[in-house]
Amino acid sequence: MLNVMATLPPGLEEEACKELRRFNVKIQEVRRLRGRIFFECHESEVVRLNYWSRCLERIVVLLLRCEVESLEEIYRRVRGVEFSRWIDSKQSFAIRASRIGSHPYTSMDIAREAGRAVIDSYLSSKGVRLRVDLDEPDVIVRVYQVKNELIVGIDTTGDWALHKRGYRVYDHPAALNPCIASAMIIASNWKPSYSLIDPMCGGGTIPIEAALKGLNIPPARFRRKPLALSKLKVFQTYLEAFSAEEFCPDGPMLDIWGLDISPKHVAGAVQNSKAAGVDKAIKFLVGDVARLKKIFDRGFDFSVVNPPYGLRSSSPRALTRLYNGLASSMAKLLEKRLVTITHRVGIIREALLSNGFEIEFEKPVKHGDLPCWVLSAKPP
Ligand SMILES: C[S@@+](CC[C@H](N)C(=O)[O-])C[C@H]1O[C@@H](n2cnc3c(N)ncnc32)[C@H](O)[C@@H]1O
Repeated sequence: MLNVMATLPPGLEEEACKELRRFNVKIQEVRRLRGRIFFECHESEVVRLNYWSRCLERIVVLLLRCEVESLEEIYRRVRGVEFSRWIDSKQSFAIRASRIGSHPYTSMDIAREAGRAVIDSYLSSKGVRLRVDLDEPDVIVRVYQVKNELIVGIDTTGDWALHKRGYRVYDHPAALNPCIASAMIIASNWKPSYSLIDPMCGGGTIPIEAALKGLNIPPARFRRKPLALSKLKVFQTYLEAFSAEEFCPDGPMLDIWGLDISPKHVAGAVQNSKAAGVDKAIKFLVGDVARLKKIFDRGFDFSVVNPPYGLRSSSPRALTRLYNGLASSMAKLLEKRLVTITHRVGIIREALLSNGFEIEFEKPVKHGDLPCWVLSAKPP
């Protein structure tokens, strides 16, 4: 059994836990709004999570969790860890350090001290001086200091985190983190037998993530870089044991739609969906969200949507008009639930309420560094 920490976009811990419960893991601690979940699981489950998780960004096997007060103490604590199970004597390593809180030293100082400690620990237990390679290390040791807590572990995912989906051949300028898109789909309770529409789909992240889920395709299939665990000997047997069938799309016929007012973004969404192998499962079209009733003579069960936040161009009035157009269209077409994300929570709340929606929940979420809210609402 391993002690593991997963990181994810802060605020979506509940959805990530819902996903985690489908794996063979024992959740021990959830840091709400901090984007960290601690759990216990077998080595094989670490491999499975790296392939299959749609919400998690990074999976780290924990080697040390303790309180520290100074850089000297960081050195001493890390020096006491046995690294030989994780790093072969011929492998290189790098420390990736980060910290939250106020400390009289920087993350680079932490990385330097922890790096020295790893080398000294290995030298004393194996008699070998490990090589450091900051650019292309074989093994990444993550060191986090959160206030006084020190967390040290082996990164099984790598610098190319799980939210970097390789299918993004078209880069929308305001693309949504696919882990947030997937968590919103989980929050909506959409199931593949229901219809789903994203009427402001941009580069198509939400419909693509829904289609991948509906067709049972693992997000890691599109990685452009191998998972870090492919270089960790502990996981080799489980990597090999992964059967080819697990990667075969085996899902129902899907009824997923993506619409955007920009022909350029719709063309980009089609390109992305082709790269993800789900272009046949999604219908994309150009259109204005305010005119959905004119475009469709049918309804939809679910809508998951990431409207513009109006950060660059829109005035509050223009944004109010846009959000009203979205809410009034969806009020006429939607059967079950709308889940949306925005930085402008007051404007979307008002638009939904004035169009007869019942708000089920509003929760704060970090979209990169931007504070946002995910809202779930039932149509009238
Ligand atoms: C935040 S972006 C969506 C990004 C998308 N989730 C992704 O990951 O690529 C919002 C999108 O809404 C679209 N949009 C703006 N006004 C619209 C309207 N009236 N009808 C439909 N789409 C609109 C924009 O063109 C933009 O692509």
